Amino acid sequence: MIEKGKVSQEPFLGILKILEEAESLNLVDWNAMNIASVDQMNQPSSRMVLLKKISDEGLVFYTNYNSRKGKEISLNPKVAVNFWWRELKKQIRIEGFIEKASEEDSDDYFNSRPLKSRVSAIISNQSSVISSYEDLTNQIDNYLEKNDESSIKRPNHCGFIIVLPNAVEFWQERDNRTHERLKYFLSDDQKWSSCLLSP
Ligand SMILES: Cc1cc2nc3c(=O)[nH]c(=O)nc-3n(C[C@H](O)[C@H](O)[C@H](O)COP(=O)(O)O)c2cc1C
Repeated sequence: MIEKGKVSQEPFLGILKILEEAESLNLVDWNAMNIASVDQMNQPSSRMVLLKKISDEGLVFYTNYNSRKGKEISLNPKVAVNFWWRELKKQIRIEGFIEKASEEDSDDYFNSRPLKSRVSAIISNQSSVISSYEDLTNQIDNYLEKNDESSIKRPNHCGFIIVLPNAVEFWQERDNRTHERLKYFLSDDQKWSSCLLSP
């Protein structure tokens, strides 16, 4: 369900190991993550997205570049990401910045989506005010009536975003508040170091 690229170093190995553990237990939305961005007035906002790819390059999700998050991260690329799996008693906190993925990668993903999802991505101006849900579904139906499937292409406003971490904390719940916190941080020389944090 997620694409696994080359993962050869910590903290990416640790992130992948936990994701694979969550996937193997068939946890609902095991690849869901919360991502926070900040607007021009320094107002943070956060929302859930689904992780689609992981590699040493970073963590990738798909979204609408014109959405609230899309606009915010185009002005301020700093983000924070959070995963939590109740059943595993584990949390992963990530800080970093974003980059847009290549057009080819975004095209491949868009083309792999079911027809109605592709059309919905074209019609939806994610995060903008709409008059009614009926209007939205009518627009999708009209689009499907008027357009041949072969003509449906990824709109420029949708695509992959890569989160490039510079800090990753693994949190493991333990009894009596003795939770384990292992934090990795990227130094100026682009090498990862780690330390333990008090719970
Ligand atoms: C479990 C879950 C997964 C979601 N996955 C995505 C996703 O992968 N991409 C996305 O753009 N929105 C996803 N959403 C919707 C977002 O949370 C959010 O409503 C939407 O992206 C608009 O956010 P914004 O207005 O802050 O840009 C998901 C929501 C939930 C609850």
